[in-house]
Amino acid sequence: MEAADVRIVGVIGAGQMGSGIAEVVARAGIDVVVTEPTDDLLARGRARIEASTGRAVERGKLEASSRDDVLARIRMTTDVVDLGDVDVVIEAATEDREQKLAIFRALDGVVKPDAVLASNTSSIPIATLAAATSHPDQVIGLHFFNPPPVMTLIEVTPSLLTSDETIGFARSFAERLGKTTVVARDEAGFIVNRLLIPYLCAAIRLLESGFATREDIDASITLGLHHPMGPLRLADLIGLDTVLQIADVLHDEFREPAYAPPPLLRRMVAAGRLGRKSGGGFYDDH
Ligand code: 3HC
Repeated sequence: MEAADVRIVGVIGAGQMGSGIAEVVARAGIDVVVTEPTDDLLARGRARIEASTGRAVERGKLEASSRDDVLARIRMTTDVVDLGDVDVVIEAATEDREQKLAIFRALDGVVKPDAVLASNTSSIPIATLAAATSHPDQVIGLHFFNPPPVMTLIEVTPSLLTSDETIGFARSFAERLGKTTVVARDEAGFIVNRLLIPYLCAAIRLLESGFATREDIDASITLGLHHPMGPLRLADLIGLDTVLQIADVLHDEFREPAYAPPPLLRRMVAAGRLGRKSGGGFYDDH
């Protein structure tokens, strides 16, 4: 299959990443079917897409009439069986290995034999997900960045089992979505999170030890390095549960202290302070 032939894309999950990915695909003129287990989760996903596309119109990034077309291209369903016609699936469920494995097994029984199955995972081995399907050569990682409509990178992550044809397809499909690709090996964290997670953990350790205030840590990075956000605000944007989960996986894979999650991160997640998505994390003013 050529990227230009893709007509319908399935997106598993309508959370922060799933809804953003669905928006990106629909803005590229491709029909999307989004799945979640409940109507309530789907409604929240649609509300996110409506808010994001509304903001894009306000910012002059999207015509108001195109916004209507984008929203009309996105169908939502609670039944994975509705993915029978899709050419590509992008799985963006919670970073939970068992959950993702169950999804890949279910997809294998539903999609067309030539469909490409992609995962937005940033830490679970693509090879593990691929081995749960009958076409492991057609399984690949497509790692988007938050917020997907704004961030222009996609990490393409083939497993040992992915065919060259699927890699080529994934790169040109990502380009059709208006993104730039890099290719990273199927090792925990790929390129970006191998660099980002130790940095975020180091910032949390500085805060935890009382070395500097959250404002001074973040200002050092925004003003001193010109990043758009400091590390604590960025951790809130990503979700502290996600940062913790990736740090745990990286630490498990490489056993390096830089990846070990600081106790403060673990305690904040235990306390339900997950960042922007829960209304508060290191900051409350999201
Ligand atoms: N659609 C299209 N464009 C949009 C948009 C939308 N829904 N919403 C905003 N934009 C555009 C704006 O038009 C603006 O573009 P311009 O600079 O050309 O005018 C740009 O995005 C910035 O938007 P805003 O000015 O409204 O917002 P901010 O300036 O506050 O920026 C931010 C918000 C984009 C989140 C910025 O702070 C940022 O880039 N932060 C860093 C984000 C980051 O690092 N993400 C990666 C996280 S790591 C990850 O996801 C991997 C995972 O595995 C952990």
